[in-house]
Amino acid sequence: MNSTEDLFAQLVALETEGVRAFRQASTAELAEAARIEYLGAKNGRLNVAKDALKSLPAESKREYGQRFNLVKSALESAWAEARDGFKAATVDPDSDGIDVTRPGAPILVGHKHPLTQTTEELVGIFGKLGFSVARGPEIEDVWHNFDALNIPQTHPARDPSDNFFTSKSTLLRSQTSTVQIRVMEKQAPPIRVIAIGKVYRPDETDETHSPMFHQIEGLVVDRNITMADLKSTLRLFARTFLGEDVKIRFRPSFFPFTEPSVEVDMIWHGGQNWVEMGGAGMVDPDVFRAVGYNPEEVSGFAFGLGVERLCMRRFGIRDIRQFYQNDLRFLSQF
Ligand code: PHE
Repeated sequence: MNSTEDLFAQLVALETEGVRAFRQASTAELAEAARIEYLGAKNGRLNVAKDALKSLPAESKREYGQRFNLVKSALESAWAEARDGFKAATVDPDSDGIDVTRPGAPILVGHKHPLTQTTEELVGIFGKLGFSVARGPEIEDVWHNFDALNIPQTHPARDPSDNFFTSKSTLLRSQTSTVQIRVMEKQAPPIRVIAIGKVYRPDETDETHSPMFHQIEGLVVDRNITMADLKSTLRLFARTFLGEDVKIRFRPSFFPFTEPSVEVDMIWHGGQNWVEMGGAGMVDPDVFRAVGYNPEEVSGFAFGLGVERLCMRRFGIRDIRQFYQNDLRFLSQF
């Protein structure tokens, strides 16, 4: 049989242990288990302590009863606190409450198309070299696409089957060199511009050809511009865009609007194959005459590089068609 003293001591222990059990319950299940242990209707420790009242001598009953009531309310509010905490954190199927403990749904953040990223990078690099950005229309007239660029009437580049003509005298531009003419018609030298945009050619579509692609055109006109300026500008660009280990090669070529003309190849990262990046050359005096410049006073260079090519080499993309298919499995890699 417990002594009166023991029973009072058990009451104190009941409160400390019970409150601790409710506070430490880390799940709703543990809180419920504590409720059964301490507040359970049958063998709950609180009820056991209540029954002990009967065995107390009459003079202790009053004090025991008062203390018992304090312990009871302490345990009940500890339980209420634990229960309410878990209730806020779980979804009650009958309510439309929000479960703040569930893992969040991932937010899909969009990003720029690899060609847009490349375009912005090109604008940035040439911007640092002092180039500003010029623009021209995608539907061009034959003057800007051919005549002013010194392309003879009989030149195969004018063949209707090699172009997208929209009327007798207009077409979807086949090159961004059109923008050279538009800039020089409006501005006096010195000139230092790039133009980036879409060009159109009815090529058979394959891994490296698309009827629409992008070019970056560059034009520098001033006094005493030489081939050395062209080469050092393109080399500096290639190093910045593709890394210090890039090599650049110029092969003799021909364009009606440059003389001399070159094809520009690049190789890097210990690669085996030279990749053609585009054409370049010193602006032909006939082009200067077409826009009213005096070729005795100024000279200049121009280049036109394929943006897709640059982007493909940069990211190791094999098939140009992937740029235009809007397949998120492809696009989300960049
Ligand atoms: N316009 C030429 C092409 O599309 C490239 C080029 C641009 C060549 C400027 C020389 C100078 O192939």
